[in-house]
Amino acid sequence: MIKTIGLTGSIATGKSTASKYLQELGCTLIDGDVIAREVAEDPRVLQAIRVAFGGEFLDDEGELRRKKLGALVFNDEKAMKKLNEIMHPAIQSKIRDQLKAFKDSSRNRRASGFQVEKAFDCVVIDGALLIEMKLHSLVDEVWVVAITKEEQLRRLMERDGISKTDAQKKIDAQMSTEEKETFADVVLDNSRDPEDLREQIEQEFFRLKGKA
Ligand SMILES: Nc1ncnc2c1ncn2[C@@H]1O[C@H](COP(=O)(O)OP(=O)(O)O)[C@@H](O)[C@H]1O
Ligand SMILES: [Mg+2]
Repeated sequence: MIKTIGLTGSIATGKSTASKYLQELGCTLIDGDVIAREVAEDPRVLQAIRVAFGGEFLDDEGELRRKKLGALVFNDEKAMKKLNEIMHPAIQSKIRDQLKAFKDSSRNRRASGFQVEKAFDCVVIDGALLIEMKLHSLVDEVWVVAITKEEQLRRLMERDGISKTDAQKKIDAQMSTEEKETFADVVLDNSRDPEDLREQIEQEFFRLKGKA
């Protein structure tokens, strides 16, 4: 049996931390951040960005000037929408492809009699924009990582070394935690220490495994 988890939540709530714990429990990770970075290197995407925003957003090697584009889109809702229209279809299709590849290989392993003792396969999609990209319909369960707004601001400023104003802009550009929670099968409260998050994840993981 294969179970798919869509792990989401606002920026710096602890998705990467949570997905690391799920990997330690044997889940395969489909990392939305890694996929987004790959998509931002795709020549067709870079060309679309050049057309939409201008050549000054690419450097001499033709690579994306991430910080410059970030400064634009986090201050301009329309520009963010335009960038999402370029990036999201490519990210969505890569995530779908990786999920399909995982399911196919899991079935093949089982069909060949290999790993018959392993009756449970788990895959987790770590995606900040899972719901916005309508990928939550692909997974068995949506898990939302939640923390208070104050703690989110503090962790984001510390992790990315950015000002309070810039951190707040990044938070405001995304769907709020409260709204994400309305789509959740599981809400993980990451306001305490990482060990506490690990315990919640183990509990939910074994509950899910029990259903398989
Ligand atoms: N329970 C916790 N207590 C303290 N710091 C945490 C906790 N969980 C995560 N962090 C830290 O907060 C920051 C954001 O976590 P991260 O997993 O990168 O969030 P996301 O992937 O959702 O953006 C990181 O620096 C991480 O090490
Ligand atoms: Mg992350």
